[in-house]
Amino acid sequence: MEFTHHRPLPSREGSGIENNMAIKSESKMKEMIRRLDAAVTIQEQKGCCQSVKQALEDIVRSGEDFLDPHFLIPADGRYARRLVHKDPNDRYTVLAMVWDKGQGTALHDHAGHWCVECVYRGRIQVISYSLEGDPDTELVKFHREIEIMAGPGEAGALIPPFEYHTIANPDDTPAVTIHVYAGELDHCYIFNPVEGGFQREYRELTYTA
Ligand SMILES: [Fe+2]
Repeated sequence: MEFTHHRPLPSREGSGIENNMAIKSESKMKEMIRRLDAAVTIQEQKGCCQSVKQALEDIVRSGEDFLDPHFLIPADGRYARRLVHKDPNDRYTVLAMVWDKGQGTALHDHAGHWCVECVYRGRIQVISYSLEGDPDTELVKFHREIEIMAGPGEAGALIPPFEYHTIANPDDTPAVTIHVYAGELDHCYIFNPVEGGFQREYRELTYTA
């Protein structure tokens, strides 16, 4: 996963009027969905992901809060994973994830789906891996590829077969990320280190309340 680094975020507009803020959040959300709807019409995966990535970066870098506060609440025990938007034509879903202090993922795949991930608040550490072997039939090996520390407005894409990584929050404060997946990701595989390599394990993916 390659993350694009940018200049620091511009300062926020401070209207101080709640209604005005709510309208702005809604229009920012609508703008995001409109941009994503356009991006997913691109058939070629790399171009599609590039366009999704650009949309997320532009929207987040505007500096406005557009996720409802309940999307920012950490969960006990594991990272929070909530559905923000499901495309009515099932082409993509948008999720918000919250990474509390010390929370992260196991090494995992994305069940063959492309995905684009953008930091909304805080920072995350992303380590990408390449796979050696066939997880259908044997223990596999992983080669550590790129380690990235990403902050707000920085996005990266994973396009199969390069779809293996870990995500962790390196800081003491919660981080929030926005994820766009091709379709709805209801499962993935995690990879557990065992003697001689990594063993694949099916993992059902659910949404946090
Ligand atoms: Fe992931």
